[in-house]
Amino acid sequence: MTAPTAPTAPTALADEPRPDSLLARLAPPDPALADRLRHGLAHAETRLREVAADVPDARVAEWSRYLIEAGGKRLRPLLVLLAAEFGAAPPPADRSDRVLDAAVMVELIHVASLHHDDVMDGARSRHGVPSAPARWGNRTAVHLGNRLLSRAARLAADLGGEVVGLQGGATERLVRGQLRELTGPAAGESPLTHHFAVIADKTASLISLALRVGGTAADVPAPVVRALAGYGEYLGIVFQLSDDLLDFAADPAESGKDTGTDLAVGVRTLPVLLALSEDGPRAAELRRLLEGGPLADEGGRRRAAELLRSSTAEARARELLHSYAADARDALSALPDVPARAALDALVGVVEHRSS
Ligand code: FPP
Ligand code: MG
Repeated sequence: MTAPTAPTAPTALADEPRPDSLLARLAPPDPALADRLRHGLAHAETRLREVAADVPDARVAEWSRYLIEAGGKRLRPLLVLLAAEFGAAPPPADRSDRVLDAAVMVELIHVASLHHDDVMDGARSRHGVPSAPARWGNRTAVHLGNRLLSRAARLAADLGGEVVGLQGGATERLVRGQLRELTGPAAGESPLTHHFAVIADKTASLISLALRVGGTAADVPAPVVRALAGYGEYLGIVFQLSDDLLDFAADPAESGKDTGTDLAVGVRTLPVLLALSEDGPRAAELRRLLEGGPLADEGGRRRAAELLRSSTAEARARELLHSYAADARDALSALPDVPARAALDALVGVVEHRSS
């Protein structure tokens, strides 16, 4: 395997969002909305890099920007901007600043969690480049994650007490989700119930936070913010289920991550849980392969991925993915019919089909 190379084009132009952002795939039909989102994302990108690198030590500044510059779909900043669209227009200048700060805050928490996640998963690549732990070691990666998380907390404080509470609650869920993934199902708990609780906490929490703080920063009425947050909980599940399907199906050149990481660290994602519950010799072989926990050897991982692809589990996991996507779309019916609502609807499809 060839080693991924370091990012080469670090600086975003202030008038363009990053090329791999979801906005390109979303293509909102309303041209004025598309313009506002393009503008907002480009500004959030510039600010994100400035805030991350705002530290006296040049090396720490470079390390802090590394993963941010390497890539990312910017799903969470996009959600912040879309939620803010439900406020009264046009936004006063200080309110749009608050919305940008909210977008930066949520993305910083996300990037911080990726630093820690790559340490925990032993992941060698992220966004198509060496992961932070692969590049500088676990200790540096953990400190960088802590630094970005602390910076996000400062931004939340600037946004006020309500946002601090929301941010604290979501971060607590994020960590609880990771811990529950480690501890596994409680005695008598079904592995599927456990799995859905884990992904709601580790992924949907932050996606829902993005919508909540975007709405809060733009003074969106509380019932609308609640409806947006409810949509985010479903969208978050769709996102993680689709990520889990990509783990054993995707070409690393496309996903920018190692394939089979979940198998390597012994995380039983939905397709794995469903495949293990099947009958027949292939399911029995998969059980034998996975019963020892993490699958350290590459040959074993390749075989497990083959067994997963040839089982009915992938199709069944996709059915569940589509059913959560339908729930996310239904949650939008409680929202006022503004162009951002149609964009949130289209976004479900983009997230849902990224693993197909
Ligand atoms: C990716 O999961 C990781 C998360 C969704 C959350 C990670 C959270 C922590 C490590 C807790 C620490 C949190 C903070 C805020 C510092 P994945 O491994 O399923 O996805 P991947 O395929 O992108 O690695
Ligand atoms: Mg991971």
